[in-house]
Amino acid sequence: MTSNLKLNRWVEEMATLCQPDQVRWCDGSEQEYNEMFQLMLASGTAERLNEELRPNSYLVRSDPADVARVEDRTFICSENEVDAGPTNNWAEPEEMREKLGGLFAGSMRGRTMYVIPFSMGPIGSHIAHIGVQLSDSPYVVANMRTMTRMGTKVLDTLGDDGGFVPCMHSVGYPLVDGREDVPWPCDGDQKYIVHFPESREIWSYGSGYGGNALLGKKCFALRIASAMARDEGWLAEHMLILKITSPEGESKFICAAFPSACGKTNLAMLNPTVKDWKVETIGDDIAWMKFGEDGRLYAINPEAGFFGVAPGTNMSSNPNAILTLTENAIFTNCGKTPEGDVWWEGMSDPPPSLIDWRGNEWTPESDTPAAHPNARFTAVASQCPVISDEWQDPNGVPISAILFGGRRATVVPLVAEARDWEHGTFMGSIISSEKTAAAAGKVGELRRDPMAMLPFCGYNMGDYWSHWLDIGRKQGAQMPLVYYVNWFRKSDTGKFLWPGFGENSRVLKWVFERCNGSANAVDTPIGNLPTPESLDLDGLNVDEDALKTLLTVDREGWLQELPLIRDYYARFGDRMPNELTSFVDNLEKELSA
Ligand code: OXD
Ligand code: MN
Repeated sequence: MTSNLKLNRWVEEMATLCQPDQVRWCDGSEQEYNEMFQLMLASGTAERLNEELRPNSYLVRSDPADVARVEDRTFICSENEVDAGPTNNWAEPEEMREKLGGLFAGSMRGRTMYVIPFSMGPIGSHIAHIGVQLSDSPYVVANMRTMTRMGTKVLDTLGDDGGFVPCMHSVGYPLVDGREDVPWPCDGDQKYIVHFPESREIWSYGSGYGGNALLGKKCFALRIASAMARDEGWLAEHMLILKITSPEGESKFICAAFPSACGKTNLAMLNPTVKDWKVETIGDDIAWMKFGEDGRLYAINPEAGFFGVAPGTNMSSNPNAILTLTENAIFTNCGKTPEGDVWWEGMSDPPPSLIDWRGNEWTPESDTPAAHPNARFTAVASQCPVISDEWQDPNGVPISAILFGGRRATVVPLVAEARDWEHGTFMGSIISSEKTAAAAGKVGELRRDPMAMLPFCGYNMGDYWSHWLDIGRKQGAQMPLVYYVNWFRKSDTGKFLWPGFGENSRVLKWVFERCNGSANAVDTPIGNLPTPESLDLDGLNVDEDALKTLLTVDREGWLQELPLIRDYYARFGDRMPNELTSFVDNLEKELSA
């Protein structure tokens, strides 16, 4: 219970609707966390890992029907369809409310309803916001404690009349008519991840996994917060935040947005190869940015932990992530070794045998992977060896530069600097990533993922771009420099031209020096590109031709790309800001000149 009347009333109302056996207010304590795992051990949801190899850590296996975010079951229920825009699934709000009312009625019978008060961002920060999740999943309680600031201290901050975003969640597996519980309850057939951006509500039914169920992350911190940010004049973005420090001890903060599978967590935690430069982590997935009194954008990481993709993470791709996971971690859908530790594809040489994510015997000869490709780790950010001192600063950190990127084998150079904020908004709006051979669909086919927000923007993407443009026009605003980067350019024979990972620090260094006005660039139709001397290539083994491809404008390639951008923009009809269309026209003229 709390002194907040609105919260008490809502909890009562939802308990009446969902009919749990009991209601438990979460205090966020370690004891409560341990109790959640006692429950999960008893129900077969979790296994404790070997205490010596992986202290205080657990492995959880989900139902194979509940392994990832479900974009086709994710809805934006704005009053008018056009306000959700062509890139979101829209459903009529009243019809959806009726549907949800039916699904949630009695959905928690035989279970406990947990009340999870959480703060996205350091408690009390003027950039942070509070949510309260109601859930019938102990797995969600434990993960929310790692991923957010959670519990009594949040209720204290909420006080008698503080506002919160209500986040309703049920796995949709009531224990009725003698039905036995299962290790991973969910509703395999009916999942609804629903957002009401105008009333700032989230309703999630049928899934217990990740972004579908940990409602502070994608649902609140991106979809609902993006709508709040538009109305209130700030930015809620799918961006990592890092701190970079020069050998002279000067630091700058940089945000970066990349679509999935483009190495955001790796960049956030990178070990620089440029001598005596340092990179530290503030966040790996989400940035909330508000203006400070000096007109600059200050960012916080609204999260308190990492919910990262495990496969591919190893001591060379991301040693700092591996070191973050040495203890107190939750692993979901990874393989389990005979010694009682976890294993996933790309971690190390495969062990001769293990138990796979489905709970079956597995050997390296097996046809299926040991870990699900979307297997995850959950760990608190403070365990990261390169976490920055400022990561919990309630005032946020001043952002000097924003990087946008995607996975592009062709056309897009290693790095291009936008001429100004408007041009940077254009760059962000045209981000695209190529599908790889491993994914369904045509190889090389582009998926547009503007600002890496395609699945996460809670309103019309055209209006979102207008908001970006407006933000830059705010009086006194001193906007970050904007860059379009591409670590994934390939040669004609399909070889990566740029080594990536720690070597990306060379591009970060150039960005840092551009912010200081000390590095050179050439003005081209697509923006300012580094002169070869301005990029620190000391000790790097990249041949001349590769470098030339990485740092020149592919005029033909861009000219072929422009009609695709025009087609994409056309989808937004009269919500498409003219300023961005003009960039396409001008680019065409400049490239053809
Ligand atoms: C994530 C995602 O899990 O972007 O961060 O899907
Ligand atoms: Mn993400």
